[in-house]
Amino acid sequence: MTITTAGASAAEIEFHYDLGNDFYALWLDETLAYTAAKWDGIPRDEPDATALPRAQRAKLDHHLDLVGARPGDGLWLLDIGCGWGAMLEHASRDDRVARAVGLTISRAQYDFLAARALPGAEPRLESWEDHAPERPYDAVVGMGSFEHFATAGMTRAERLDVYARYFAACHRWLRPGGRMSLQTIAYDGAYDGTGPVGEFVGSDIFPNARLPRLSEIAAACDPYFSVVALTASAEDYARTLASWSARLLRAREGAEQLVGPEGYRRYRRYLRASEVTFLRGAATLYRIGFRRRDEPLRLADPLRQSA
Ligand SMILES: C[S@@+](CC[C@H](N)C(=O)[O-])C[C@H]1O[C@@H](n2cnc3c(N)ncnc32)[C@H](O)[C@@H]1O
Repeated sequence: MTITTAGASAAEIEFHYDLGNDFYALWLDETLAYTAAKWDGIPRDEPDATALPRAQRAKLDHHLDLVGARPGDGLWLLDIGCGWGAMLEHASRDDRVARAVGLTISRAQYDFLAARALPGAEPRLESWEDHAPERPYDAVVGMGSFEHFATAGMTRAERLDVYARYFAACHRWLRPGGRMSLQTIAYDGAYDGTGPVGEFVGSDIFPNARLPRLSEIAAACDPYFSVVALTASAEDYARTLASWSARLLRAREGAEQLVGPEGYRRYRRYLRASEVTFLRGAATLYRIGFRRRDEPLRLADPLRQSA
């Protein structure tokens, strides 16, 4: 099957995620979440073995809170870019969600999830662009996938188009009054992905990637959703990357066996370089809660100029 996307292609996603489930399992925590954790209230001196999974579960709970999923509600949830199933597992565990559909365009992730057979969860090897739900969802979450929807060669107008199509699709799939949450990295102090760190990540780690800016997310979502919560925390990503990096260092021998010394060095460089990117304020992390507008607004959009 060929998956076609406007953003990162399945091949580009595979370049990153299909390095092997076992490799990522070496340095992610037991939830297998591969996005920034939420560290509020977690002491700096708490051992990493408990601190990272706690912070990851706090992040998952935060998103379930943003979409209004309470125990017993039995929501239908869509997780766009479900990775290795952190949210699918967490949501079904404490009865906040009756059914969770997860989309990934990584074959390795899909095979892993299909074998896990999480109760109430339906993983799909499918881009959001091809998704056609059988009934409306109560809630949509997306953590760490929005970063892949645009590519390096796109103009601002082209990025806005793909982001707007994304919000329009989520609007179509949600029931009236439905909620959505988004967690994404975005450029902050940096204009774009140029510069040594951006170029290294764009060529060696996430080929062809292009991050959004907050102004682009705001312009694209405005017709379809009202923003009900927004937080920015570069620190959350920096601390998560520091934790992953320390774990990878401890797992060096096993990692080198799986991906070779060069693969190990590349990932250590990427994790350290990304940490610096967040610490310097070049990029940040947004968590945004949205409420679906009943009717899309017809807005004249002054931001839709090419650049
Ligand atoms: C950084 S991982 C995040 C995984 C997960 N949300 C987590 O927090 O651990 C990004 C995910 O986005 C998915 N993705 C990228 N582009 C996609 C697309 N066009 N449609 C659906 N999923 C996509 C990838 O396959 C991967 O599962």
